Amino acid sequence: MNRIESAGTGKRALARPTTLFGLVLVCLVGASLVTAQSAEAQTPARPGLGQRVVLVTGSTGGLGREVARRLASGGAHVIVHGRNRERGMELVAEIESEGIGSARFYRADLASFDQVRDFAEAILRDYDRLDVLINNAGIGSTPNERLLSEDGHELRFQVNYLSGFLLTHMLMPRLLASTPSRIVNVSSLAQRPIDFDDVMIENDFSGGRAYAQSKLAQVLFTIDLAEELEGTGVTATSLHPATYMDTGMVRRAGVRPRTTVAEGADAVMHLVMSDGIENGQFFNGLRPSRANAQAYDGEARARLRRLSEELTGVR
Ligand SMILES: NC(=O)c1ccc[n+]([C@@H]2O[C@H](COP(=O)([O-])OP(=O)(O)OC[C@H]3O[C@@H](n4cnc5c(N)ncnc54)[C@H](OP(=O)(O)O)[C@@H]3O)[C@@H](O)[C@H]2O)c1
Repeated sequence: MNRIESAGTGKRALARPTTLFGLVLVCLVGASLVTAQSAEAQTPARPGLGQRVVLVTGSTGGLGREVARRLASGGAHVIVHGRNRERGMELVAEIESEGIGSARFYRADLASFDQVRDFAEAILRDYDRLDVLINNAGIGSTPNERLLSEDGHELRFQVNYLSGFLLTHMLMPRLLASTPSRIVNVSSLAQRPIDFDDVMIENDFSGGRAYAQSKLAQVLFTIDLAEELEGTGVTATSLHPATYMDTGMVRRAGVRPRTTVAEGADAVMHLVMSDGIENGQFFNGLRPSRANAQAYDGEARARLRRLSEELTGVR
């Protein structure tokens, strides 16, 4: 059985006029609530005509959930993703009850490349467009323990970076078919250069190092993507949303939150909605910023790309 579950609603959708989302189009697309176990058993997702489709990974909680809510309130069809089906379905129901946007939940564990591939294939099957991909799902620096993914890779490197690399490449045909489209990679100011002699951190492991390496890898990937996609109409940016937002990740680390999820969501929405954003740029909140020096080292980016292609099978 396919490991990907999906469930959601197709409904009357109002796409509000914004600089990115264009003119208002109202479409009746029928209503359905789908709760089968396998994506194969689902009725197709049905965003309305002119309704933007946005995938937010890790939108069952924290920052991703708030971003998904805001996008749906603006009229988008949101692909809600995470591992926790109950929280995913709660959000779909909330979006449905608001009556503006629409949503559908897909369950996939980013610690498994097979699940990422099944997830991407389900999206390619169910949607003929993808306007925005927000790679937000992630695990923090706790537990301070070296854990491995299903594929045998250092867990944070796979969940926070490699799986986003794989998902983005697999969904590229839909992003290219939906230009102008955007990729937003939710990184962090916690950044540590990748040691190419020990990418899986077999020596001197710490959860903080693993987290910071994976977050910088996302920034290298973003700059690379921006170069690759130049002139196609697909843009890529990355950001540090806000420092110690009040989310599960921060609370699990035993850190006292310093900012709100709303502040981080403002920063993500800025990259999703605003005009004049420079392709490949890293942002600290709402401001263009400079990432760790390794991000601007073309050789390091090429090395990371080759390694990521090898590990994920992307060509
Ligand atoms: N919080 C901060 O202050 C802060 C600061 C800088 C950057 N960030 C970044 O912001 C993003 C969101 O963080 P957050 O604070 O909102 O964290 P969070 O509250 O822990 O939420 C993380 C989300 O990722 C999903 N997720 C985690 N592991 C997954 C896996 N293996 N497969 C699929 N989904 C998975 C979770 O869903 P399930 O539990 O349903 O799987 C959840 O929806 C992360 O990329 C983080 O690095 C956060």
